[in-house]
Amino acid sequence: MKVVKLFKANFQPEKEELKGKTVVLLYSGGLDTSVMLKWIQEKYECSLISLTLDIGQRGKDFKKIEEKAKKLGVKKHFTIDAKQEFIDNYVFPALKANALYEGTYPLHSALSRPLLAKWAIKIAKKEGAAAIAHGCTGKGNDQVRITVTAYTINPDIKIIQPVVEWGFNREDEVEYAKKHSIPIPSQSKYSIDENLWGRSIECSDLEYPEMEPNEDAFEWTVNPKNAPDKVEYITIEFQKGIPVAINGEHMDSIKLIQKLNDIGGKNSIGRLDHLEDRIVGIKSREIYENPAAVLLISAHKDLEKSVCTTQEFAFKSLVDEKWANLVYSALWVDPLKEDLDVFINNVNERVNGEVRLKLYKGTAQIVGRKSDWALYDYNLATYEKISKFNEKASAGFMELYGLQAKLAHMIKKKNEDLE
Ligand code: ARG
Repeated sequence: MKVVKLFKANFQPEKEELKGKTVVLLYSGGLDTSVMLKWIQEKYECSLISLTLDIGQRGKDFKKIEEKAKKLGVKKHFTIDAKQEFIDNYVFPALKANALYEGTYPLHSALSRPLLAKWAIKIAKKEGAAAIAHGCTGKGNDQVRITVTAYTINPDIKIIQPVVEWGFNREDEVEYAKKHSIPIPSQSKYSIDENLWGRSIECSDLEYPEMEPNEDAFEWTVNPKNAPDKVEYITIEFQKGIPVAINGEHMDSIKLIQKLNDIGGKNSIGRLDHLEDRIVGIKSREIYENPAAVLLISAHKDLEKSVCTTQEFAFKSLVDEKWANLVYSALWVDPLKEDLDVFINNVNERVNGEVRLKLYKGTAQIVGRKSDWALYDYNLATYEKISKFNEKASAGFMELYGLQAKLAHMIKKKNEDLE
């Protein structure tokens, strides 16, 4: 008889290992994590602590989530308001890196996972828990991000991923929920993940990438045809690469991002449709809503270009792309990310000034920028008489500039003529 040995990673606990111990579950209050709250207790005979992070999910009632967790038998529940930490340590570094995975996705979900993992490990340490648990599926990126961050911070931690262990389909889950008196909330046909930086929408009819998404997939942005018929101008001010004011009004960063999500959403900015390459090799169709991220990244990149030399800007684009790739690919904790941050922060020291945008029915056009640090010099650029640019020097420059190209062509021609 052939014995099939199932692969088990170091971080996966044995069933008996957690008996009588404590597990910290990243809890959203939805059906999946509610079912696992019971299931883990049953399977591992352990006690549970639930943890919910407030990172700006709209319409979440954190009090209700806590009550629900307690009703389902957790010995303790933590709600952490991590909005400011998320913006300061995850969102703004991404903005300074103009981070768009594959040129499109502003990484809002990817940025939040290392923060969730960090808090789960922190609470586990504080409460003496032996394991953490999360609700990710076995097909996505989020499992990799949480796991890699968690075991990097604490190499001894055990990680439970019920969705890949239990083998439930949707009906099994509902049945399990009924059996254990777990409330079954009315669920959207889509899988949604959101925070201050954006909203991800997956599953259902979106899995047919040739089909336009249904209007009911969108919540933060209106259809362009329903956006105002009037142009809206906004001016965003940056200091050291960080947005500090809208239309001259200074405000704290949480409010600023919320306000840009509102203004952008109303003008249909930031609807993204992305055929994305996941870490695990799947190409998946993702719909995103990122009004603030789209406005801020395009404004930031424009201003950054104003203050950078040609060489710096070209090199920074490579660094930015690498940064976005690392963060997407679950390597937030790789030292290379920190190394890149040093360069990115250094460039951003000079990203001070204002960018003006014109919003109209789904488009956000940059129509002006101003900075005391800009390398733009009117006196050099102008076609007016007062120009200080030495046009006489151009001829000498051109003679030498194309020297090698000219030589190469001459040599090629000479050899061809000899054939
Ligand atoms: N595809 C995106 C990413 O990998 C979004 C994931 C959204 N997560 C979710 N649990 N629905 O970052």
